[in-house]
Formats: sequence, C-alpha cells, structure tokens
Amino acid sequence: MATTKDYRLGEFTFPRGWFMAATTAEISRAPRALRLLGRDLVAYRGESGRAIVLDAYCPHMGAHLAAEQSSGEGARRVEGDSIRCPYHAWRFGPDGRCNHVPYFDGPIPAAAKLRAFPVEERYGCVFIWHDPEEGAPDYALPDLPEWDDPHWVQCDYDDLGTIDVHPQEVVDNIADTRHFGPIHGMKLAYFDDTFDGVVARQRSGGGHETMTSADELLESDAVYTGPGILVARFGGETDAVQIILHTPIEDGRTHIWHGIITRGQATPPSEADRAMHAAYHATGLAAFSQDFAIWRTKAPAIDILRLPTDGPFHRARAWYRQFYNPRAEAAVYQQRANGFYPTKGMPAHITDEAAE
Ligand code: FES
Ligand SMILES: [Fe+2]
Repeated sequence: MATTKDYRLGEFTFPRGWFMAATTAEISRAPRALRLLGRDLVAYRGESGRAIVLDAYCPHMGAHLAAEQSSGEGARRVEGDSIRCPYHAWRFGPDGRCNHVPYFDGPIPAAAKLRAFPVEERYGCVFIWHDPEEGAPDYALPDLPEWDDPHWVQCDYDDLGTIDVHPQEVVDNIADTRHFGPIHGMKLAYFDDTFDGVVARQRSGGGHETMTSADELLESDAVYTGPGILVARFGGETDAVQIILHTPIEDGRTHIWHGIITRGQATPPSEADRAMHAAYHATGLAAFSQDFAIWRTKAPAIDILRLPTDGPFHRARAWYRQFYNPRAEAAVYQQRANGFYPTKGMPAHITDEAAE
C-alpha cells in the first residue's frame, strides 16, 4: 500500500477538502461510527434534522460515542442536536463542547470538547470539511441543480467500498487520455484538461462501446471540485450526470461511491424514465468498474513513465498537491497546474466561441 509520503504529496497525510462521509439515508438519530481520513468519527442526526459529525472518543474516559447501549441513560443518546456519551452520559453539542454532565454542577472543563467537523448535506450525501490546519472551508461544494430538478431521476449511490489504492491513483484519471480506448472501448474524438485553482476539468468526446451505440458521440464534461468530488455531465442520447466520490480512509486506502442521475422525458419522470435511468445507471457503473478493476489490482505509479503523448499527469499531480500542503502555499501548486492542456496528438474540445 503506497502512502502519501511515497507520492511526495506534501506535509499532510490527509488532504484538505470536502469529503463524502456517508449517504443521507445512513445518518439517523442512531449514532453511527464512521472511519475516514485516519479518524474514528461519530455521525448522527439531531432532532432539528441537522447531520452532525464529531470525533468519536469521549474526552472523559475514551468511550466511543457510537458504542451501542441497550438500557439506561446511555441508550437515549440524541437530545436536541446534542449527543450523550454512552458511558457516563456527558452530553456534547454540535460544536463538540460538553454542555451537560448529569452528576456535576461545577463549570465544565474547557478540555471536555470533541473536534466538530463542518458538515453539508447535498444531493443525497453528507459531506465533511477536513482541514489539517482546522480552518474553515475555503471553497464551496459543487452545485448539482439537476438533483432537485423535477425532470430528473435521482439515484441511490453505489457504495463500492474501500480499495487499497492511494487516492492519487484515482485522481490521475482526470488526465488519462490514453486509457479510454483500452479500458472503455472508446475512440476519442477530442480530449483536454483545464486546471484552475481547486477545480480540475476534463472534457472528452468519442464513441463509447459500453455507454453508447457505436456511431454516437458520448460527450463528457468531468469536473473535480477539490480533491474528492467528481461531477461528470454527459451529453448524447441522454442527459446524465455521474457523481464519483472518493474519501481517503487510511493512508493509502480509499472509499469510493458512485451515482448517476438522468433527465426523464416526462415531468415528473414516468415509469419508462425510471426504467431508462436504471439501465443507464447500471451501464455507467459497468463503465466505472472498468477503471475500478485496474485500480484494485495495480501496483502504485509513484512516478509515471510519462510519454509526451500521454495526458498531463504532471499537471494533475501538481494540482492535487495543493490539498496536502498548508493553505498559505496552495497558490504555489495552483500556479504550477493552472492552464489549458490538450494532449499531444489528440484534438482538443472545440469551444462554441471558437466554432463561430
Ligand atoms: S467516557 Fe464519556 S462520559 Fe465518561
Ligand atoms: Fe476511465
């Protein structure tokens, strides 16, 4: 298992950014243990409906806040938006501070505090903000207006579980021009990358054996917003959005989720639209599984033996490094990556402006 250090990514073992923690359906009044970003966490839904994520271990004597308890005060865990530890029933607010101890009326020590993570719940996902420097979020989650659009069919996410692959190898995909033919049976008509700050964008078009009929062009506009959230919009016979979320779990181990939503013909979507969505979702998952099969079995590409006609892996890796280094240095890595990069020997996307 290759680690962040092996890839020489930077100072931090785990990157700064928004990361998928769980699906919306997984977070309820029953506290849930999560493992991500090298930490044990507890996630629960407060009585207000808000999703809350805290470090898991109680500062009193170390109980896991999601430990099951079938009787006593420890079984009644969520009060308002606070949670009680199952062991001695200290209660912690959504800010992580202890706000009640049932057997003590003196001032609560300042150290009685858990780390609380900024949480946002969007498009069926619960995201947490992780920053080794514990700063506030410095970019917003990508917008996905299609999710709430009544023309569109929403999806359940495929939880693909964890693989012993560093997320660097997953992110390399954004610059990987030459895997489309061998892996996806896709004959590319164009391909290019653009890096701009925290955003990495890949545009591609071509015939796709798995996702389209042979003579049809599948066009994809795939955008990373930060290191862990990829939203790819597909045009072709069907308007679709593919959502690929990946979160470092341990150093060199990655959890991956996949989802696809499609635009229906009727509003609200008809049975036929739902059937079409199910088929498209299955096909999209099959296409993604082609990448997954490689990741699951490959050796780490610590240094890529890059040819001039490969995609701009070196730019993608410079882009990715910004998240593993202090925020104050992010601009240095962004400057190394920022720009528009066609792949040598491959046409680039023809923009509407250029075509006029
Ligand atoms: S260990 Fe949590 S209240 Fe004692
Ligand atoms: Fe791929």
